[in-house]
Amino acid sequence: MRRAIFPGSFDPLTNGHLDIIKRSLPLFDEIIIAVLNNLEKKPMFSVAERCRMIEEILPEIENGECSLIVDSFQGLTADFARDKSATAIVRGIRAVSDYEYELRMALMNRRLEPQIETVFLMAAEEYSYVSSNLMKQVFTLGGRVEGLVPELVEAKMRDKSKL
Ligand code: PNS
Repeated sequence: MRRAIFPGSFDPLTNGHLDIIKRSLPLFDEIIIAVLNNLEKKPMFSVAERCRMIEEILPEIENGECSLIVDSFQGLTADFARDKSATAIVRGIRAVSDYEYELRMALMNRRLEPQIETVFLMAAEEYSYVSSNLMKQVFTLGGRVEGLVPELVEAKMRDKSKL
């Protein structure tokens, strides 16, 4: 059983994240999309909202061979991966600017759990500048994010802005 976790804040899930999940499908039997419950940050969506949105969106990309599971966690990614008996942590790299941060995290995670490998996948060029933070900022200031986040996410962002 090749089980991986794909950890992140996913506040909210973007098409860049979806692209990375799609690329991971042929590599693993099971991927756990692991939503970080970061108590320090003030998110746009609660962890429960993020998980529900991802669960609704995943059927669009499921291929029947790799199971996709949505879960949330607190604390260390390495601990969560070990507890789930995952052998890999999937992370997407968009541009060189991601590299240093990702390298540090991968090396630290390896030190914590040497048997778990971080697997980096390159995001599609069209999403190379897409991040959750940029999407929130542009949306909040009235800009368009269509094509960069799933339609459901865009609708939920619109709902939030009406509150
Ligand atoms: O989507 P993000 O915000 O880039 O994801 C970052 C994430 C969740 C992977 C990272 O912040 C993380 O692993 N946090 C959990 C705490 C932890 O394990 N910290 C040490 C990493 S070496």
